[in-house]
Amino acid sequence: MTPMGRKQAFHVALDLGTHKTAVLLAAMQDHEPQVIGLGTAPAAGMRRGVVVNIEQTVQSIRRAVHEAEVMADCEIQSVVVSVSGNHVNGFNSQGMVPIRGREVTSSDIDHVLEAARAVRLAPDRHILHVLPQEYVVDDQRGIREPEGMAGVRLEARVHVQTGSTPVVENVIKCCNKSGIAVSQVIFAPLASAEAVLTAEERELGVALIDIGGGTTDLLIYEGGAVQHTWVLPLGGNHITNDIAAGLQTPPGEAEKLKQRLGCAVASAVRSDERIEVPSVGGRGPRVLSRQILAEIIEPRVEEILNLVANEVADARADGHLRAGIVLTGGTAGLDHIATVAERVFHLPVRIGSPGRTGGLGDIVSGPAYATGVGLLQLAARMGSDAVISPASAGMIAKVRTRMGDWFREFF
Ligand SMILES: Nc1ncnc2c1ncn2[C@@H]1O[C@H](COP(=O)(O)OP(=O)(O)OP(=O)(O)O)[C@@H](O)[C@H]1O
Ligand SMILES: [Mg+2]
Repeated sequence: MTPMGRKQAFHVALDLGTHKTAVLLAAMQDHEPQVIGLGTAPAAGMRRGVVVNIEQTVQSIRRAVHEAEVMADCEIQSVVVSVSGNHVNGFNSQGMVPIRGREVTSSDIDHVLEAARAVRLAPDRHILHVLPQEYVVDDQRGIREPEGMAGVRLEARVHVQTGSTPVVENVIKCCNKSGIAVSQVIFAPLASAEAVLTAEERELGVALIDIGGGTTDLLIYEGGAVQHTWVLPLGGNHITNDIAAGLQTPPGEAEKLKQRLGCAVASAVRSDERIEVPSVGGRGPRVLSRQILAEIIEPRVEEILNLVANEVADARADGHLRAGIVLTGGTAGLDHIATVAERVFHLPVRIGSPGRTGGLGDIVSGPAYATGVGLLQLAARMGSDAVISPASAGMIAKVRTRMGDWFREFF
């Protein structure tokens, strides 16, 4: 991007969600990104975390980009973009290289990470991120920074996240067609985690659950690193659909009712509270009990969280979450959702919000902006100024080459 008359580092995040497209533009101040431009647009071309309509997605990106540019008086040229969807999966892997009694060098670390990522993938899949968990020098485990240590062999244990190549290419294509280049592609919940988790939580063991519009993303951290990844293609939009069907109201009205008056625990709503529900087909509004609205919401929230809890149990991680559960994403704004999560997980639960980040920080302080703010923080920490020109062939190859180095420092 071109700062007009200002010499400063800038970063731009594009959170391509199922519910909304958000562009956050930040200027660096004292090594912290300060949001100075924000643009949002409804994400009409996305379903369950993935692009299903290129043209609609391009329109939505253009709108959000334009809004952020006008607000910040800047021209956006490249972005760090998020990807999600249940095509993304994660597995643990390891690699080993001989050291033969020398000191471990930076290039040994490169080689051992190369070895750890050298797994056979289906032809239509590629590696999004290689996240180091620990290094082992001879028999000594739990090493974070092996450089300079002496040993006979160096081992790396990593968590590898892979995605469907065409699905990720569609994201890049939509950006390019909107006139912007992509400097990095980041799996959305990694960005959310950056914005809302503390280092202590990641160390002790925590489950980050990002409940958006079309997906619920789960990342399990322990020992400071990601141990497990999972994406459930269900989210807040499904709650809205249930309300629309159950109360026979248009989806737009169901969305408003959910956000303004929804509650995830029916018994927490007073039985005499009444709400006005618009009807479909020109009929007049009806007055119903607010408890009925909560009775529709509660089982869907429970279903989503139960599915996540089953996955946590299958990953044998339930005994390891000493810092409990952190809920984020727009649906974490639902009244009483933490109560339901506590009931489902039998663990302490908190809502993770990015908090104030200066500039427009107040506006992006809610859980719906966790991914956007986290993308900015990652971009700022790792440096993503480099612009990669739009290209149709080998799009991912160009973006990917930079991602390896990136997460090496991430740890
Ligand atoms: N106050 C609120 N109460 C209940 N639900 C809310 C509230 N605010 C936002 N939501 C819901 O959060 C969802 C959007 O969350 P978010 O913006 O994190 O989604 P997204 O990132 O666009 O989608 P995804 O991550 O699934 O691709 C919508 O379903 C919306 O209805
Ligand atoms: Mg999201």
